[in-house]
Amino acid sequence: MSLLMIGCGKMGSSLLTRWATSTSHTITVINPSLVKAPRGVIVTQAIEELSEQQFDVIVIAIKPQLIEKVLPAYRRYLADSGCIISIAAGYSVSSIEKLLGEQAVIRIMPNLPAQIGRGVSALYANSNCSNAQITMATALTDAVGYTHLAASEDELDRVTAVAGSGPGYAFEIARCWIESAIKLGFSPETAKALVLNTLGGSIELAMSGTENVEILRNSVTSKNGTTEAGLKALMSDSTLETLIESTVQAAYQRAVALR
Ligand SMILES: NC(=O)c1ccc[n+]([C@@H]2O[C@H](COP(=O)([O-])OP(=O)(O)OC[C@H]3O[C@@H](n4cnc5c(N)ncnc54)[C@H](OP(=O)(O)O)[C@@H]3O)[C@@H](O)[C@H]2O)c1
Repeated sequence: MSLLMIGCGKMGSSLLTRWATSTSHTITVINPSLVKAPRGVIVTQAIEELSEQQFDVIVIAIKPQLIEKVLPAYRRYLADSGCIISIAAGYSVSSIEKLLGEQAVIRIMPNLPAQIGRGVSALYANSNCSNAQITMATALTDAVGYTHLAASEDELDRVTAVAGSGPGYAFEIARCWIESAIKLGFSPETAKALVLNTLGGSIELAMSGTENVEILRNSVTSKNGTTEAGLKALMSDSTLETLIESTVQAAYQRAVALR
């Protein structure tokens, strides 16, 4: 398959690195400032450098606010049976179709750990997409981690609120935890190593088995022990639960507003 990626910044290049090694697609990238790309990827800086070739897939990986200006010129580069894959946050299928006409459109919403192949991506395909196109797109998101197939764009927005924005929440929770370790007397480097390894190890343990996280939490909590004392403070009221819930809700409401 031939794939053209428009824009290759932070997220585009994370995807590209994995796609270049895990798929056999012929990938062309177009990005004004890009000079280096993984081996085998064709790099162009401007649309004028493209030959008359048409592509099976065009991936939109530019900022959403640029799409209206940039995308229409690419219409003639999309093969008749081709599909658009957009990673642009908050840019709906209908907005894309306003620019290109009715198309097979797949929206994917990856998150930052895609960089290391541990991302979570939501994938939504409109009704114009064939099963083969959905399978192809799923292989692309599988190459960068875990894929959740969304049945609607609303579901895609809900996954975005939970997982797309999730790394931000995880980093902030880790930051607070690191601060608390520093206040106990550890250097910033040691505090960071203690917290990130604890978080990483706990999450890997939870992912390696089938027990739910509540049971795992109870299994590390001995009566009158240190964990129980810590959890009593953490769970003394519903502050944490309410905060996390309002965090995810706020992100979802923002996704809805961006539609
Ligand atoms: N970052 C994330 O965690 C994340 C997560 C999910 C979805 N997304 C989505 O991914 C998209 C890209 O985000 P990003 O964080 O990767 O942004 P970014 O780092 O700014 O990348 C955008 C790239 O587009 C290039 N570009 C600008 N104008 C162009 C044009 N006319 N033709 C081709 N390329 C052009 C820019 O190149 P220059 O630098 O040369 O201008 C830049 O490298 C956005 O739509 C965003 O919503 C991002």
